[in-house]
Amino acid sequence: MKGFVKIFTYGCQMNDLDTQKLYSELFKRGYARTEETTKADIIILNTCSVRQKAQEKAFSNLGRLKLLKRRTPSLIIAVVGCVAQQEGTALIERMPHVDIVLGTHQLHRLSDILGEVRQHKAHFVDTMYGSCIPSIDIVPEKSFMEPPHRAYINIMQGCNNYCSYCIVPYVRGREISRNHTSILDEVRLHAARGVKEIFLLGQNVNSYAGGVTFPALLKEVHTIEGIERIRFTTSHPKDVNPEFIGCFATLAKICSHIHLPFQAGSDTVLKAMNRDYTKKGYLELIHDLSEARADIVFSADVMVGFPGETQGDFEQTLDLMQAVRFDVLYSFKYSPRPKTFAAGIEDGVTPEEKRSRLHILQTLQNTISLENNQARVGRVYDVLVDGTSPRQEDQVYGRTTHNTIVNFIGSTSLIGTTIRVRVLRANKNSLTGELLRP
Ligand code: 5AD
Ligand code: SF4
Repeated sequence: MKGFVKIFTYGCQMNDLDTQKLYSELFKRGYARTEETTKADIIILNTCSVRQKAQEKAFSNLGRLKLLKRRTPSLIIAVVGCVAQQEGTALIERMPHVDIVLGTHQLHRLSDILGEVRQHKAHFVDTMYGSCIPSIDIVPEKSFMEPPHRAYINIMQGCNNYCSYCIVPYVRGREISRNHTSILDEVRLHAARGVKEIFLLGQNVNSYAGGVTFPALLKEVHTIEGIERIRFTTSHPKDVNPEFIGCFATLAKICSHIHLPFQAGSDTVLKAMNRDYTKKGYLELIHDLSEARADIVFSADVMVGFPGETQGDFEQTLDLMQAVRFDVLYSFKYSPRPKTFAAGIEDGVTPEEKRSRLHILQTLQNTISLENNQARVGRVYDVLVDGTSPRQEDQVYGRTTHNTIVNFIGSTSLIGTTIRVRVLRANKNSLTGELLRP
C-alpha cells in the first residue's frame, strides 16, 4: 500500500463524480481511501468556484491544512477542479504548502504526478486546456460509487453560452462532448454490474453533440436492459426543443423530473444575463414538458440581486415561481466572479436588499415545496432505495421518480431495489411513508 488518500469535494455532481474517479484511479495504483484527515498521506481538494462562497470554503480549508503540513512535511496537498483552473500558479504563490495544482482538463494525470511529486518534493502546476478531456472516459470502481446502484456519467463538459454572471466557460473551457459509443459502453458496463439508475451529467447536458444529439443518446440509453431509470442534469432552456420534449412522452425510463434553471423572472434581467429566453418562453417550455409527461415536476436554480435588479424585476421572479410551483429551488445571492462580463457592471443592489429578497424568495419556496409534498400524502410511489437514514437506524430512504426523498421503516436488504411505498406524511424536503408488501 502506497498511502492513504482523503478527498474533500465542493460544488456540483460533476465534482462528486470526479472524486469517485480519483479514488478509483488511486486505488488501482495502491492508495487506500481514508475519512480521517490526520491519517492521510495525500489530501486532495476537489474545488468549485461557481460562487464566491464555494471558493471561500476551499480556501479556508486550505488555510487549516497549513498547520497539518507543518507537522507532517511528507503530506502531499493537491488542489484540483475549478479553483485550481482559475488560480493556477497564483495558488501556490499564495499558499506554498500546496504541492499540486491540476486544472479541469488535467485530472487524469494526478496518479502519475503524485508519484513524482512525492519522490522529488517539487511543486507541480498544470492548467492547460486540451481538445479532449481524458478523465471523461474514466469509469469509477463500483465500490466508490455512491450509491452503487446509481451511475453518474459525464457526457459533456464546459460551456459556450457565456451567461454574463458565470465563471464556468473560464474554468471548464468550451463545450466538449464525449463520444456516444464510449458513453453507451459505459452504460452497458454499469448495467452488467447491476446499476439501476443512469444519471447523465454535463454543464449543458442537452447541448450534447458527441456524434448524436442528446435526444438520440437518450433513446439509445433507454434500450439498455437492466437500467430502470434515467436522469440528467443540467439542462439549459435554450436547448429544450420538440425532440427533447418528445423524449418525456416516449421514453418511460426517463424520470418525471427536470432540473431547468431559470435564474430570473424579469425579461430585462434575463437579457442582461445573456440567457437567450424570456419569462414567457420559459413558461411555454414548462407547459410543453407538462403536456408530454403529465406528472413531471420541476426544479431550478435562481439568483437574486443581479446588478440592476429592481424590486419590480424581483417580483417577476416570484411570479414565475408561483406559476411553475417548483418542487425544489436552489437560490443564491449574486456574487461577482472573475473575468465575467457582469463583474464589470456596477452592482447597484445593496447587500441588505439581496439578503431580504433571498429571504422572501426562500419563504415562498418553502411554502410551495411543502404544499407540493402535502399533495402526495396517500399516494403510492415506486421508490428506488438508496440507503439507511442517517438519523434513524430502522429506517431506509429512497427516491421517487420526482426525485423526492421518502423515509420509511424497512430493512437494509431493500437497498438497490425498487419497491412500492405509500406516503403517510409530508415535510418540506422529504416524505415519510410505509412499505407496501408486494
Ligand atoms: N452568483 C450567484 N450565483 C451564481 N450561479 C452561477 N454564477 C453565479 C454568480 N456569479 C448560480 C446559478 C447556477 C448555479 C450553479 O449557481 O444559479 O445555475
Ligand atoms: Fe462549481 Fe461549476 Fe465547477 Fe461544477 S463546474 S465545480 S458548479 S464552478
